[in-house]
Amino acid sequence: VHSHLEESIRPYIDLIDTLRSVGIHKDLALPTIVVIGDQSSGKSSVLEALSGVALPRGSGIVTRCPLELRLKKVPGVNWKASAPNEKKIEFADPSLVEEHVAAAQNELAGKGVGICDELITLEIMSPDVCDLTLIDLPGIARVPVEGQPEDIGKQIKRLIMKYIKKRETINLVVVPCNIDIATTEALKMAQEVDPEGKRTVAILTKPDLIDKGTEKSVLAIVHNKVIPLRKGYIMVKCRGQQQINDEIPLEAAAQMERDFFQNHDYFRCLLEEDKVTIKCLAIKLTQDLVDHIKNSLPPLQQQIQKQLCSVKRALHDCEAGPPEDLEGAKEFLIETLNGFNEKIKSLLSGEPKNGKSLF
Ligand code: GDP
Ligand code: NA
Ligand code: MG
Repeated sequence: VHSHLEESIRPYIDLIDTLRSVGIHKDLALPTIVVIGDQSSGKSSVLEALSGVALPRGSGIVTRCPLELRLKKVPGVNWKASAPNEKKIEFADPSLVEEHVAAAQNELAGKGVGICDELITLEIMSPDVCDLTLIDLPGIARVPVEGQPEDIGKQIKRLIMKYIKKRETINLVVVPCNIDIATTEALKMAQEVDPEGKRTVAILTKPDLIDKGTEKSVLAIVHNKVIPLRKGYIMVKCRGQQQINDEIPLEAAAQMERDFFQNHDYFRCLLEEDKVTIKCLAIKLTQDLVDHIKNSLPPLQQQIQKQLCSVKRALHDCEAGPPEDLEGAKEFLIETLNGFNEKIKSLLSGEPKNGKSLF
């Protein structure tokens, strides 16, 4: 992402983050990118590669609460993170992310394997990230593991639905290359809430684990010929378990990803078409998010205006609030109750009287 683009997008993303931090999202839906997919499809790996931050990963349900990652590109600062919605945790060591996220999850969802709707926010500033706000959601579980309620699959789907149904979200659907894409639950859910595919982007992961002989059919998918999505597909290769065990740094992994595609007999062409690599995904997502924010601003402003009006009206009605002194306050209370009484009477008799409205 070159600096011209950065300058033009930063104010939009800041605006949305500010609105979110004052709690506006409880009343109004703000644009954001949400990551969904089956368990172990590679969601956290994609987020990790995009953010440069090691996230809790592994088998089973690791992401148990929605995790909001606010990435801010700040030139010249050292990496730092803060969790603004908690006890204001701040830290400067990327390797502590996992620990802090896990602790926050345990606090919200309890120790164990349960899930929770509460959002954990992590804000990361670094010269090396792109300007994005992403939300990682628990993966879709097919079979409950020990200690999980029977309806865990339903619970997770309900939680996912809550996020992806909002018109303002871009739904990033993570699907491994080595499964039958047509049967992917996450893609079905995204299509259900976004039939025209205006805000759905599919990410194909694990291209290195693809079954030999299926390359051409995967290529057809990337070329949007099988399940056409308006925003199309992007293929990425993240670190596999072995590379994680070997502690291959993310920068080295990015180079390995490039080499992988350059040397691939079938997927090499996708490099020039801008349909592969994490870097390409990051640039596309940033631009998508900004377009999305731009499109959401006029209706957002209308909603805020409407709420402002109704709050002003309510304020106007309360203008003569209770006086400071006790006697005055008592009088005010009696008057208020009388007014309330009148209001009820007139409502019951069906003939509204003029008078100060209490509502
Ligand atoms: P999540 O449950 O969807 O968040 O999935 P994770 O990101 O935790 O990934 C599950 C497993 O798949 C991990 O062991 C990853 O290392 C591995 N993985 C993810 N992406 C790739 C990839 O592109 N290639 C390979 N070989 N493994 C991957
Ligand atoms: Na996982
Ligand atoms: Mg995960």
